[in-house]
Amino acid sequence: MLNRRISFARSPQSAADRLVHGDNLPVLEALEDASVDLIYVDPPFGTGSVRKGRAIKQGDAAAAYKDVPNDPERFVDWIQPRLEHFHRVLASHGSLFMHLDYRAVHYVKVALDRVFGRSRFINEIIWCYSVGGKSKRTYARKHDTILWYGRTADYAFYPDAIRVPRKPNSHMRVVTTEDGELVQEKTDRKTGKVYRYPVNLGKVPEDWWADIETLNRADKERTGWPNQKPERLLERIIAGASAEGNLIADFFCGSATTAVVAQRLDRNFIAVDTEANAIDCAASRLEQRGNELAAAGTPPRDIDVERVATAVAAAS
Ligand SMILES: C[S@@+](CC[C@H](N)C(=O)[O-])C[C@H]1O[C@@H](n2cnc3c(N)ncnc32)[C@H](O)[C@@H]1O
Repeated sequence: MLNRRISFARSPQSAADRLVHGDNLPVLEALEDASVDLIYVDPPFGTGSVRKGRAIKQGDAAAAYKDVPNDPERFVDWIQPRLEHFHRVLASHGSLFMHLDYRAVHYVKVALDRVFGRSRFINEIIWCYSVGGKSKRTYARKHDTILWYGRTADYAFYPDAIRVPRKPNSHMRVVTTEDGELVQEKTDRKTGKVYRYPVNLGKVPEDWWADIETLNRADKERTGWPNQKPERLLERIIAGASAEGNLIADFFCGSATTAVVAQRLDRNFIAVDTEANAIDCAASRLEQRGNELAAAGTPPRDIDVERVATAVAAAS
């Protein structure tokens, strides 16, 4: 149901988070300059087909949304005004993470370089997974690309929030220091300088992520929404580039993976989707997770579920 408030009785009350049904363009137009701290978007990839998931409630038709045509030039024309708004609404320390695959990433990279400036490009994150079919005629296409841009050179980054364990069998030797600390150690051949990395501190991941599997059919996290992304992926993105209380935006939210993680990590959120089914799915997922947080003694902010007044524009 739209135009309602999901309440978790948080005290003291603070501004509600927003779950919006509609085209993201008018929603973006209405946002103030520099008002968002982090944007993650996972737009339709341009498969040219209807993306089908499975029924979200028993007896419903399979959840689905119509993808944009398999035409990257048209895709860029369509997304261009949205990219300009992403740039406008980001705070100076803000970041955009744009999730794409091989079909459109090279076209969108050029468009983003033009909007943000090439010097604002930070990382091309390669997210590797193995679930799904394989072709007999190609190397299996088992990665997506997430482009990270900073609004300015002074973008926020919290490396200590996203450390992962060090590889036990790396090229470095493991030694115990004089202080009893376990470190990985290497010696620079040219300079003889010794580098030591405490094992218990872990490390900041590289720009390829192979430690987060995509959701399988039976995964507990599955909502039925097609192309749903794993929460762990969003945890790394949100924890690494935002702080508690920041505003996180997802303008192609689907089942609201970004919003669910923002809610759990005590960030504010605005999440938008054109499909009424996506908003229903997102609202019940956020309500359930919010109730779990409330039961554990950490109620999240209320959520306003809204419908934008403008007509819902098709993505094609
Ligand atoms: C790849 S899915 C997002 C999946 C999401 N990351 C998740 O974890 O569930 C892309 C979403 O973009 C939505 N969409 C397409 N065009 C849109 C538009 N103009 N405004 C808002 N949402 C749109 C689709 O309905 C679809 O749910």
